Amino acid sequence: MSLQEILDHRRAIRHYDPEKPLDPERVKECIRMATLAPTSSNMQLWEAYHVTDKAVLEKLAHACLDQLSARSAQEMVVFVTRQDLYKQHAEAARKFEEGNQRRHAPKEKQEKRIKKWDTYYGKVMPFLYSRGFGLWGLLRKLLAQLIGLSRPIVRQVSEGDIRVVVHKSCALAAQTFMLAMSEAGYDTCPLEGFDSLLVKKALGLPRKVEINMVITCGIRQPDGVWGDRYRQPFSETYHRV
Ligand SMILES: Cc1cc2nc3c(=O)[nH]c(=O)nc-3n(C[C@H](O)[C@H](O)[C@H](O)COP(=O)(O)O)c2cc1C
Repeated sequence: MSLQEILDHRRAIRHYDPEKPLDPERVKECIRMATLAPTSSNMQLWEAYHVTDKAVLEKLAHACLDQLSARSAQEMVVFVTRQDLYKQHAEAARKFEEGNQRRHAPKEKQEKRIKKWDTYYGKVMPFLYSRGFGLWGLLRKLLAQLIGLSRPIVRQVSEGDIRVVVHKSCALAAQTFMLAMSEAGYDTCPLEGFDSLLVKKALGLPRKVEINMVITCGIRQPDGVWGDRYRQPFSETYHRV
């Protein structure tokens, strides 16, 4: 399929065929493809829970407000954010970049570049991603305002802003997954109509995990697509500057 065909084929499917199961290995491969999605600072603070167990699917469907898309789904993939793992991920990225520089950078530039990554993943990232009743975010915001008086600076650094950063990256992974599924001839529907507490309970997830999107999966029934696709006029979306 061309990219245009993959995009045309992907629709939000609200009713799946109960007679057409999916190959879980193929779905798993689509999740593997989703790991190629970009993430902010390459922090990769997301995980995917691939649900194939009928009892868990049943609980999840209820957690998704009993929407037909969830009720009829053959499998589901729950994308979650793991901001709580920022220290481990920053350290893993720091170590990777150290090796990366040693493998690829000119010898005379290696130490300087490694030091730069040490600062980025060892100090800047932990400072940006840390949370504490909003106070860290407030401190970061004040600092950004101050530095912003003399030079350009990232200003969206409150604790709420960083949550958006993490969810944004996770959603890119979710979209990559849906496109991979479309290319496989499989159907999906992203859902945020769910009770996050019940979703976490169904999956046995810790409190700090946040549910980004539940994606139902299956093969569409003829009535699974709700008619024509609606999009805002492109002239209102597109702005050439
Ligand atoms: C983040 C997100 C949450 C969504 N939540 C739901 C949902 O809870 N229930 C539902 O039926 N559709 C949901 N949708 C599907 C949208 O309604 C659908 O993508 C949109 O109408 C465009 O249709 P299309 O995907 O077929 O192009 C969601 C889509 C996104 C991106």
